[in-house]
Amino acid sequence: MTWRTTLCLCTALLLTPATWANQPEDNGQSSASPIPAMNETDLAAGRQLFSVHCARCHGMQGDGGEGPSLQRARLKHVSDDESLFEVINDGIQGTGMPGTWAPNDDEIWQIAGFVRSLGKLPEEPMPGDPAAGAILYADSACATCHISRGQGRGVGPELTEVGLRRNAEYLRRSLTNPDADSPMLDSQITGRINGFLTVRAVASDGEYEGLRVSEDEFSVQLRDLRGTIHSFEKSQLLRYEKAFGHSLMPGYLTVLNNQNTDDLVSYLMSLKGDS
Ligand code: HEC
Ligand code: HEC
Repeated sequence: MTWRTTLCLCTALLLTPATWANQPEDNGQSSASPIPAMNETDLAAGRQLFSVHCARCHGMQGDGGEGPSLQRARLKHVSDDESLFEVINDGIQGTGMPGTWAPNDDEIWQIAGFVRSLGKLPEEPMPGDPAAGAILYADSACATCHISRGQGRGVGPELTEVGLRRNAEYLRRSLTNPDADSPMLDSQITGRINGFLTVRAVASDGEYEGLRVSEDEFSVQLRDLRGTIHSFEKSQLLRYEKAFGHSLMPGYLTVLNNQNTDDLVSYLMSLKGDS
């Protein structure tokens, strides 16, 4: 399918009301969700669509990766089946969660039904001791580059809710091999920033290096090591480059032993924004 036909389909979808084959129009219940009535065939179709469109970020079993594990009874951005539909259809603005390729409503409901079934699976266990990890976090001066619960500053992404964004395996890799956090290609299609990218800009008043905060055709914003945001018009820059695969975060592979890493990962997994 070409982009043009995809776009036409999107527009057509916007104009037609939701169509779900066996959906009773007025059953006296407020919810329009077909999920409770789904059969095995719908769930199998949902699983298949999930493996194609979602698994590269959420894992084949929905156990997470670049995106959070969906094996959780309560999801942060989802209050009911309708909001789950919206999250899948539109993505979550300002995060690494992209909107879909816009197939049809039935397929989105099938994926949503499959995601619901994941929520009944047990949550990922903590590999270590979060309290010990909190002490390591303080001792390792992570707060010189990260804000968490209002504390700290610097170039890195905020970690207050990192436990809702990533799974344990991904967090372990962030610590031991930060260069591996390269952005997903999706951002080139949707225009959104999905991953973290180090950029360098040479302006008339000097050189800047930092984490890309946002970028479009004409401008770019980066956050430097001190946490200061710089904004540039691309046409004014002498040079601008993207350092793919180069992280500003030091690797902790040789600094932390296995137990330390497990504890720190457990601490990070416990950061869910609410306490
Ligand atoms: C490019 C990676 C990527 C892809 C592809 C992706 N997601 Fe996500 N998704 C994320 C990230 C990252 C988040 C966390 C957003 C945040 O809160 O910062 C997320 C969040 C979510 C949430 C909300 C979780 C919560 O706690 O509220 C749901 C549900 C979800 N994704 C489902 C899906 C489904 C279903 C698909 C496939 C149609 C999909 N995602 C495709 C990266 C991705
Ligand atoms: C010199 C600055 C710096 C220091 C020190 C630092 N980080 Fe980072 N961190 C970054 C940057 C920049 C990123 C963005 C991704 C990348 O470039 O790897 C990052 C990414 C991360 C991520 C991934 C976040 C996500 O959403 O994917 C985690 C988790 C993390 N850091 C934890 C830590 C912990 C824990 C420590 C202390 C042991 C630490 N960082 C120390 C700069 C730093």
